[in-house]
Amino acid sequence: ISWQLTLFSLIVLPFSLIIISYIGLILRKQSGLLQQKMADITTNLHETITGVKIVKAFGMEEYENKKFFSETQKFFKLVLRITRIRNISSPVTEFLSVIVGVLIIYFGAQLVIVDKSIKPSEFITFLFAIFQLMPPVKELSSVNNRIQESSAAAERIFEILDTEPKIKNAESPVTVNSFKESITFKDVSFHYDDSDELILDRINLEVKRGTINAIVGSSGAGKTTMVDLLPRFYDPTSGKILLDGIDIKEIRIEDLRRLMGIVTQETVLFNESVIRNIAYGLENCDKEKVIEAAKAANAHNFILELPKGYDTIIGEKGTKLSGGQRQRLSIARALLKNHPIMILDEATSSLDNESEVLVQEAIERLMQDRTTFVIAHRLSTIRNSDRIIVLDKGKIVQDGKHEGLLADQSGIYRKLYELQFRD
Ligand SMILES: Nc1ncnc2c1ncn2[C@@H]1O[C@H](COP(=O)(O)OP(=O)(O)O)[C@@H](O)[C@H]1O
Ligand SMILES: [Mg+2]
Repeated sequence: ISWQLTLFSLIVLPFSLIIISYIGLILRKQSGLLQQKMADITTNLHETITGVKIVKAFGMEEYENKKFFSETQKFFKLVLRITRIRNISSPVTEFLSVIVGVLIIYFGAQLVIVDKSIKPSEFITFLFAIFQLMPPVKELSSVNNRIQESSAAAERIFEILDTEPKIKNAESPVTVNSFKESITFKDVSFHYDDSDELILDRINLEVKRGTINAIVGSSGAGKTTMVDLLPRFYDPTSGKILLDGIDIKEIRIEDLRRLMGIVTQETVLFNESVIRNIAYGLENCDKEKVIEAAKAANAHNFILELPKGYDTIIGEKGTKLSGGQRQRLSIARALLKNHPIMILDEATSSLDNESEVLVQEAIERLMQDRTTFVIAHRLSTIRNSDRIIVLDKGKIVQDGKHEGLLADQSGIYRKLYELQFRD
C-alpha cells in the first residue's frame, strides 16, 4: 500500500511483538506448572475424598491433611509468582500496544493527510491487517483465564475443607480395645440430611461375635447405609447401636474404627507403593507381614509380576491394576490389620472369572474367625453365612438361614434368589 508505512511497521511491530510474546511465554510456562500442581492436588483430593471412608477407617486424617497442606503450599507459591509476573506484564504489554498503536496511527495519518500518498480506506485496511498480527495478545488473555479458573477451583476446595465434621467424639469418650460379645441395633432409623425419607426404618438386630451375617436386598434397600452406621460415618437419626452394650457414640471414634475392617465396592488405592498401600495406616510395618497378608489375599503373585514388585507405585498416576487386583490389595490391607469386625460390601461389578475365584477365596479367608457383616450377591457367600438379613425399603423383612428363607414362596428372598444371586 505504502512502502513507508509498511517499512515503519516492519521495524516497530516485530520489536514489540517479541517483547509481548516473551512475556506470554513465561506466563504460559508458569501457568502450565500451575495447572500441573492443580492437577496433582485434585488427584490427591479426589483420592482422599472418594477414599474418605478408608481414610477415616484407618485413622489417617492427620497424614492426609499434612500431605494436602504441603501440596497447597507449593501451589500458593506458584500462584504468587504468576501474579507478580502478571502484574508487571500487563502494564508493560498495554503500554507497548498503546505506543505502537499511536505511532502507527500518527505515522499513517501523516501519510494520509499531509503526504496524501495513501487513501484513508487503504489505511483502514492496513490497520485491520496489523491487528490480525496480534495473536500473542489474545494468548495472554487466555492464560489469564486459565489462572482464573484454577483459583476458582482452589476456592471451591477450600470451601469443602472448611466444613466442620459432624461426627465428633463424645465429651469424655470411652476407650475400647476389643470386641467381646455382640453388636445390637436398637430401633435404629435413619434419613440423610437432604431428605426426610427414612432410609432405615426401626432396625432391630443383634449380631453375635464370631458370626457371618449376610445382608441382602434389592438396590437402594439401604444395605450400604446400614453398615455405614457401624463405623459412624453417619449417626442414626433415632435409636442407637450398641457394641458390647456401650452406645457407639460414647466410644472413642478412633477405637471404634480400629475394630472394624472395611472392604467396599470402590476399592481405594493411593498414589504410593504397593507396600504403602497395603500397610496404609500403619506407621512402620514388617515387610514380612505385608507379604503374608498379600499371600492370604491371593495378591502376592501378581505383585511380584509388577515392574518393581512391592515397590511399584500404583494408583491414578502409577501402574494401573485390574478390578480384581485392586480388590485383592484392599483385602490384604484389611487382613494385615486383623480387625475383629469386618464390613464387606461385595462387588457386583464384573470381574473376570479367574479374578473372581481368587477374590472369593481371599474374602472367605477374611471372614474366618471374625464377626462379619457382608452385603452379599454371591450365592456361595450367602450360603456360607450363619445368618441372612433381608432388607427391603429400609426394613428388615426376613431373617434366617438360606433354606428357611427360600421356603417362603412369596418372600422377597426367593425373588432375589431367582433374579439376583449368582455364582
Ligand atoms: N449420601 C447419600 N445422600 C443421600 N441419599 C443417599 C446417600 N446414599 C444413599 N442414599 C439413598 O439411600 C437409599 C439407600 O441407599 P443404599 O444404602 O446405598 O442402598 P443399597 O446399598 O441397599 O443399594 C437410596 O435411595 C439412595 O439413593
Ligand atoms: Mg450399596
